[in-house]
Amino acid sequence: MCGLKIQSRRIIRLIWLDCDISMDEMQFLESVYELAVSYLEDKGTLVDYQNFDSLEKITDTKLQVGPMPYEEILQDIQHYLKYCVRTNQSGFMNPLWGGINTVALAGEFLTSLTNTSMYTFELAPIGTVIEKSIISKMLGYVGYPDGAGTFTTGGSNGNMLGMLCARLKNNPVGMQTGYDNRNLVALVSEESHYSVVMAGNVIGIGKENIISIKSDQFGRMRADALAEEIQYLKAEGKEVFCVVATSGTTVKGSFDPLKELAEVCFRENIWLHVDAAWGGSALLSSKHTHLMDGIDLADSVCWDAHKMMGIPLICSSFLVKDESILARVCNHTKSAHYLFQSEDRTNDLGHYSLQCGRRNDALKLFLAWRQKGDEGWSKLIDSYMESADYIESKISHHPRLELVSPREWTNICFRYTSEVIDENTLNKELRKRLMQNGSFMVSKAMIDGMYIIRLVISNPEITLSSLDHFIEEVVRLGEEIEKELPHR
Ligand SMILES: Cc1ncc(COP(=O)(O)O)c(C=O)c1O
Repeated sequence: MCGLKIQSRRIIRLIWLDCDISMDEMQFLESVYELAVSYLEDKGTLVDYQNFDSLEKITDTKLQVGPMPYEEILQDIQHYLKYCVRTNQSGFMNPLWGGINTVALAGEFLTSLTNTSMYTFELAPIGTVIEKSIISKMLGYVGYPDGAGTFTTGGSNGNMLGMLCARLKNNPVGMQTGYDNRNLVALVSEESHYSVVMAGNVIGIGKENIISIKSDQFGRMRADALAEEIQYLKAEGKEVFCVVATSGTTVKGSFDPLKELAEVCFRENIWLHVDAAWGGSALLSSKHTHLMDGIDLADSVCWDAHKMMGIPLICSSFLVKDESILARVCNHTKSAHYLFQSEDRTNDLGHYSLQCGRRNDALKLFLAWRQKGDEGWSKLIDSYMESADYIESKISHHPRLELVSPREWTNICFRYTSEVIDENTLNKELRKRLMQNGSFMVSKAMIDGMYIIRLVISNPEITLSSLDHFIEEVVRLGEEIEKELPHR
């Protein structure tokens, strides 16, 4: 047996049969590949749900003193794959991403295989060429032809970077002398992502100085309320240095009116950053790009390709109209002589990043873009919107289901209605059972005191028939819970 070139499928079978074979590195990798293929082919349960205690009990987490044979590592991998959430399946509609883009997956693998850091051209020559080209492509979509950009650790980090650029513009010497943040205020919509408030803490202006502006019934920041608040704060002696708009809010999927907000910011000389982590991909579709009208008038934007574009996490861009501001925020030339040796700064991308070591996240996006082309992305976004139209219509025509918020994007916020049982309790239980049954994962949120179920379409595996099945399951569970839980 050992003299033969052992095929990986066979190895796995042997492992399952508990045969005692030795395995070298290549065979190990082949076996991992086979397990990955089985994972991709498996259309079974979305998650084999266990609570923490039972999962901990059945998972061998000991880090022993001596080495462990590859066979046992493979068993660890099988165990991991058995109990992970299979985010590539159609029932996965929970966060703002899902599914697998095979070409991008290959890019992710190549990034780890070639394991380099993006700080200098010298260390990442081909990576630098690729990252610059993909950033330039994205700058074209947002309308910043002379801008700059970088890949960050996520939209949260991109929002913070936008605020840092805004603060530098507001006070160009503060970077050297330090900032007295006491008067600085940033304004955000009341529907904005929590990362903006966190950034208030990180950059030192304090969470209290991130002030929420009222939204309209669609969840969009009101430009009139923004203008009013700016005047009020100015009269109080505060300095509004940044407005953070959202294109695609986390819960409702609303798009703030960028043109109107930009007008206010321009008049008041305030930096406008757009959190388009979720909705930025609307730019890829000629049918839906209007949702982002006015993005070219903003100063900076973050856009997550790991959300609607389905690139493996993390793949998040930060784009800025004025290249020099990002270069100044990230300036470190004097202190990093040991790393940056080139005279030509523009090709050492570490001059545009707050990170030192940085993964090559551009490669997977680049390869996926080559494979799909602009048209492929456009089709993907359009198909997600069509699926969202479909399920929105099903929900709004169903006697027991209720849409809780008007829809702009692929977020669908709804609940099961009941005359006999507290609806918040019912919907909470319903969401839990959907997950514990292992068929669907959707998210929850509160809207106007109501516990709602939020599903998002951001997974190429979702089909109209999987959505039909989802509705059937929601209604079945709703009826089941109504029978089981005490009536009010
Ligand atoms: C609107 C919005 N902004 C920012 C983020 C944070 O993005 P990331 O998870 O890439 O940090 C999210 C995450 O869901 C989001 O919905």
